[in-house]
Amino acid sequence: MEKLVIEGGKPLSGAIKIHGAKNAALPILAASIMAEGTVVMNNVPELSDIGVMLGILRSLGCKAEQTGDTVTINTAAVHQFHIPEHLMSQMRSSIFLMGPLLARLGRVELYQPGGCAIGERKIDLHLKGLAALGVKIEDDGSRIVCMASELTGADIMLDYPSVGATENIMMAAAMARGQTTITNAAREPEIQDLQNFLNTMGAKIIGAGTDTITIEGVQELVPCTYRIIPDRIVAGTLMIAAAVTRGHVTLQGVCPAHLTSAIHVLKRSGVQITIDGDIMGISAPSRLKAVERIVTSPYPSFPTDLQSQIMVLLSLSDGVSIVKETVFEGRFKHVDELSRMGADIRVDMNAAILRGVPRLYGATVEATDLRAGAALVIAGLAAQGTTVIEQIHHIDRGYDRIESMLRSLGATINRTTPVAME
Ligand code: EPZ
Repeated sequence: MEKLVIEGGKPLSGAIKIHGAKNAALPILAASIMAEGTVVMNNVPELSDIGVMLGILRSLGCKAEQTGDTVTINTAAVHQFHIPEHLMSQMRSSIFLMGPLLARLGRVELYQPGGCAIGERKIDLHLKGLAALGVKIEDDGSRIVCMASELTGADIMLDYPSVGATENIMMAAAMARGQTTITNAAREPEIQDLQNFLNTMGAKIIGAGTDTITIEGVQELVPCTYRIIPDRIVAGTLMIAAAVTRGHVTLQGVCPAHLTSAIHVLKRSGVQITIDGDIMGISAPSRLKAVERIVTSPYPSFPTDLQSQIMVLLSLSDGVSIVKETVFEGRFKHVDELSRMGADIRVDMNAAILRGVPRLYGATVEATDLRAGAALVIAGLAAQGTTVIEQIHHIDRGYDRIESMLRSLGATINRTTPVAME
């Protein structure tokens, strides 16, 4: 298996452009099948999750190609409504195809995506929302069959502002008869990007980014060309890496407005941040201060997807910090690995108490999920000595060649590919 090998202790410096947002691209790629013809997307990151989604689109009958950060999809021949189980288990974001397939073909067959390293990841809110739009659902606990001769608009109140459920309901409602309102909707920037993409194809949606989204159903959507927003979590990850290595880094092509809560936390810990349009400067010349309490919760609060990474910074700050994870029930698997590098973290239910330590030490550690892996990379950059990270396929799901990104900022990091045994 491939590994990342990092020689720690070098301050990051230089400038880097932030690639497109995985969590915007995935639902938008799924939504492309709602129009017949050729859809072109720019600023799509080259990630394994994107590759899996293109594979699923091909299995449904699309032609789909990615060249650099441009994806071209011809959706004319979409005819298949069954999502293969092996592709579902490879990536739970396959559930984003439910709304689009119901809108295009009136049917979708898929499988319970199952939990993952960070929690149970139920889809009950997706199914309740689609049922409200007139979808008939048969769910035997494993296989799910959804049918809708016609989708009809409805007033839907989400029990929890689920990102995926908001997106799936938006997509199905875009071609339902009549009006749909989603209250207690998720407010993430990726949902605004999906609204903008659907409206570029002729949908009539307003309110994304607020907790109430209103959709006027239309009969038909037309193909378009669209540019994906930058990845706020990749940007946040690099901000934290710059801070813990006491470096001086410039991020280009970012949207600072998407990072308000992370910027607030970093400034409270002593990180210096400058903003000029889509350019952000990060530097942290001296030891950082603990942040008393960070609570992850839906946007615009501190994002759960930066929780693992901020723990590295808090472990190297003076004082005691508390991090409370309220979005996923199992998102602390990186704690054991960070502890093996010398971090002082105690977990109590969904709260972690972190006591700053003078330094971290290189070790051989294992990535358990995407963002936990990113946190281990940051820890390796700051640690004294050599860090070897295993199971790095998790990291490749959300970061486009993370070792190249970091080497361009002066890090000593390499990907080792095992020699095939004779
Ligand atoms: C999206 O996942 C992101 N993934 C996640 O990013 C992100 O962490 C999450 O939103 C929260 O911001 C993509 O966009 C592809 P949710 P999603 O539905 O849609 C529970 C990363 O690292 N829930 O808002 O699955 C669920 O179990 C990934 O890039 C239900 O109970 O998130 C979880 O505890 C990780 N029933 C909470 O809500 C449902 O029907 C938040 O889930 C749906 C969700």
